[in-house]
Amino acid sequence: MGKFIVFEGIDGAGKSTQAKLLGKWFEERGYEVVITKEPTDTAFGKLIRKLVLTGGDEGIIDGARISYEAEALLFAADRAEHVNKLIKPSLESGKVVISDRYFYSSLAYQWARGLDLDWLIDLNRFAIRPDLVILLDLPVKESMKRINDRSIENEFDRIFELQKKVRENYLKLVERFSEMKIVNAFEDVKTVHEQIVALVEALLT
Ligand code: TYD
Repeated sequence: MGKFIVFEGIDGAGKSTQAKLLGKWFEERGYEVVITKEPTDTAFGKLIRKLVLTGGDEGIIDGARISYEAEALLFAADRAEHVNKLIKPSLESGKVVISDRYFYSSLAYQWARGLDLDWLIDLNRFAIRPDLVILLDLPVKESMKRINDRSIENEFDRIFELQKKVRENYLKLVERFSEMKIVNAFEDVKTVHEQIVALVEALLT
């Protein structure tokens, strides 16, 4: 079995940058690496981008925005495909899988929407537990600054209060899921990478 590592954190925390750097680190050590993300680029991921993330008219069905429950189910459906078609087979062939977001995103974000945490955990019970979840933690003010330097991509990015709640939720989830480790993402890219490598080395020994 390979190793399964997940990056989590609010938008702008540096997940994709750090996922790439860690992928390179593994490759330099002879591992075969799969870097992936959620929402995925499959038909389900595209549906999520269309119905949930664009925020425009496409997410309106029969005059109302799609419900938060439907939103959670779409993310879970996308994840079921991700687990069964990519994550499990890759791990079984001994590869290192690095995912930018996983079910912890559903717990942190959809819980922030007001859904019940235990229902969300049950809904995602099919999703195999990673060996390590790196929570890139950052004050929301700083993440908003970073996001504003990029283009603002979706509704979640825009709402300060929601981001604050999501960050708090992530920190609460650390108490519930022992595989989650907090890394201070306020530091520069190299320092953050070094902290991550230390966690990964501990996992490999
Ligand atoms: P993001 O990482 O921004 O993807 P992309 O840049 O490819 O659009 O993820 C999109 C948003 O979806 C992000 O704000 C977090 C949110 N999200 C959830 O609310 N629940 C989930 O289960 C996942 C995976 C993401």
